[in-house]
Amino acid sequence: MKKILVVLVALCAIGSFAFAGGGSQKSGAASGGLQVGIAMPETHVQRWVKDGNSLKAEAEKRGYKAEAQWADADQAKQNTQIQSFLTQGAKVLVVGCINEGVGSVVTEAARDKVAVIAYDRIIPNSDQYDYFLTFNNFKVGVLQAQSIETALNLATATAAAPKYITLFAGSPTDGNAFFFFDGAMSILNPYIDKGVLKVVGPYPKTSKDTSAFQQIATENWSAPIAKTRMENLLNNDARDVTLDAVLAPNDTLGRAIIEACKADAKYRAKLPVVSGQDAEFDSAISIKNGEQYSTVFKDTAKLAEAAILLADAIVKGQTPNIPGAVLASGDLREIGNTGKKYVNTYLLDPILVTKSNINVPVDAGFYEAAQAAQLK
Ligand code: BGC
Repeated sequence: MKKILVVLVALCAIGSFAFAGGGSQKSGAASGGLQVGIAMPETHVQRWVKDGNSLKAEAEKRGYKAEAQWADADQAKQNTQIQSFLTQGAKVLVVGCINEGVGSVVTEAARDKVAVIAYDRIIPNSDQYDYFLTFNNFKVGVLQAQSIETALNLATATAAAPKYITLFAGSPTDGNAFFFFDGAMSILNPYIDKGVLKVVGPYPKTSKDTSAFQQIATENWSAPIAKTRMENLLNNDARDVTLDAVLAPNDTLGRAIIEACKADAKYRAKLPVVSGQDAEFDSAISIKNGEQYSTVFKDTAKLAEAAILLADAIVKGQTPNIPGAVLASGDLREIGNTGKKYVNTYLLDPILVTKSNINVPVDAGFYEAAQAAQLK
């Protein structure tokens, strides 16, 4: 019965464009049902808290009734949350998934004619949705590695006195992790080939080197896993060298790696150069204090705004026009390859941040006032 009602309401909404949202047209909201379901993966990585809140605020600003849920990196939990959005009559789902297990509920959504936007992370192995909105994730990795290249002055390094690096990647369940890594290795491999940069521990040349990649990957982007792996490296593979750098795929893992290094007397005076991603506040402070070397700023407020613009256009049957985003083409089309089809993929641009331009996320209004004050 409930389902029939939901379908009827949906049909009415489509027929009369009642779900036009925006401005004064709040007839969809007036009907009381949920319109935009926002499914975020986790809270242990700070950015997602902000993503979910920004998405909800952007949707409400445009007159939509929206709800955000976080799933503690548990796909079964997220599927239950998404099913509840569907039962409540959501017309659009904005999903930052955990792994490909999300596919079954995406198929359910498609059956109910509910549009799904893959948010930041691709929904792998599905052909049941059409839109993906993210950053240029290959470039994120390029920027991470370029910061290491500059900090270690790799251009002038010699094989007689090589620099030492160890490699970490993100979760093997997250399509982004592969692009981050491949972007980074596109910069680092030439130095490794020349012998001026030596990899300590496993060395996948690209993410396609599956068995070595699995060894450096960090399930569910878990900080404790990264910290333990770093401790093991310090006590084993890296015991007889001094590491100059660690490729860390995001800030959460970068800080865990730094913690492990700080506990090792060898690095008390000088930490290795550690990269990151997300411009998390704790990492911005760490960069300001000269511990973490770099991060990659992805303005997630803009990503959230873009996602709701996209949702609005989809619902109104309009062609999306998303300022600041480019539709992936050429090699970047691969970012939108689910394994079953290429989805329309919109990319925003990431920015490298080190101590010298820490003002960039601050000036963009990325932090709360009290936090921004600490970064001045
Ligand atoms: C996101 C990163 C984030 C990571 C862990 C990736 O999919 O693109 O911004 O650090 O997930 O949550």
